[in-house]
Amino acid sequence: MSDLFNFETTPDPYAVMGNPITHSKSPIIHTQFAKQTSQSIIYQAIQVDIGGFPQAVGNFVANGGKGLNITVPFKLDAFQLVDNVSERAQMAQAVNTILVKKDGALYGDNTDGIGLVRDLKFNNHVILQQKRILVVGAGGAGQGIIHPLNAEAPSEIVIVNRTLSKAQKIADKYKTSTSKVTAATFLELRTFKPFDIIINATSASLKNDLPPLHNNVLQADCCCYDLMYKDSDTSFMLWAKKCGARTVLDGLGMLVEQAAESFTLWRDVQPTTKAIIENLRHN
Ligand code: ATR
Repeated sequence: MSDLFNFETTPDPYAVMGNPITHSKSPIIHTQFAKQTSQSIIYQAIQVDIGGFPQAVGNFVANGGKGLNITVPFKLDAFQLVDNVSERAQMAQAVNTILVKKDGALYGDNTDGIGLVRDLKFNNHVILQQKRILVVGAGGAGQGIIHPLNAEAPSEIVIVNRTLSKAQKIADKYKTSTSKVTAATFLELRTFKPFDIIINATSASLKNDLPPLHNNVLQADCCCYDLMYKDSDTSFMLWAKKCGARTVLDGLGMLVEQAAESFTLWRDVQPTTKAIIENLRHN
């Protein structure tokens, strides 16, 4: 058959880069998105040595790579490497998605925060507008979610962190007349009114540890969300349930939603997420 009539094309390569990467669910998620939307892609997980990130991206692009997800610990390296960034990546100072443009330029985005917002709003029907939100933790994960949360017009966002200066640095970026983002220590939090939504963005759950939150931050119809997920409840989720929070969620929905936003950026088609979240939850 002449090439003119050969409609078979090689799938476009995509990948997630991180270290470690073996347990990443991204290949499963993106392969399911591609099937669902009839997109011809291959998606692999690439373990990258510390210090080797720019080289790994260069190799991937040279081999025809079209887009990347970036996970721990390379989100800052990705932010520094790309040619242009979205506003939300700029505010997060971190990139979790790279689009390789036709001219080879690298565009960096951050879909983590919008993934959280979509999971809260659309999958779990949590209203953010005019609500008081407490974000616990001011590392990379905390920094990445403030901009999209703030865009939902909550009445206020308080960032609490053991190291106050880190929370203050993030809050300072949102000092405008229309937004109310402030920083606090765990001790100061004891005098605050309870919050509507509490988001654990610390890495404490990784070590089955709990941030030093006093029960006074929580009220009965509160929604508590841990950005982490594992097969069983995290220590933060157990604490929230013990304190009587009405809605207690983990970060599995956010993981799938942030992936969907990346996929849409790459392929210009929006996959549906519900069945994939349920599938991952039960397998
Ligand atoms: P990530 O990229 O996952 O956010 P990170 O940048 O290392 O990781 O940040 C970890 C966050 O979890 C920080 O806010 C850290 O608090 P400090 O900045 O004060 O170190 C927070 N954290 C980790 N373990 C914690 C614990 N047991 N209690 C409270 N906060 C904790």
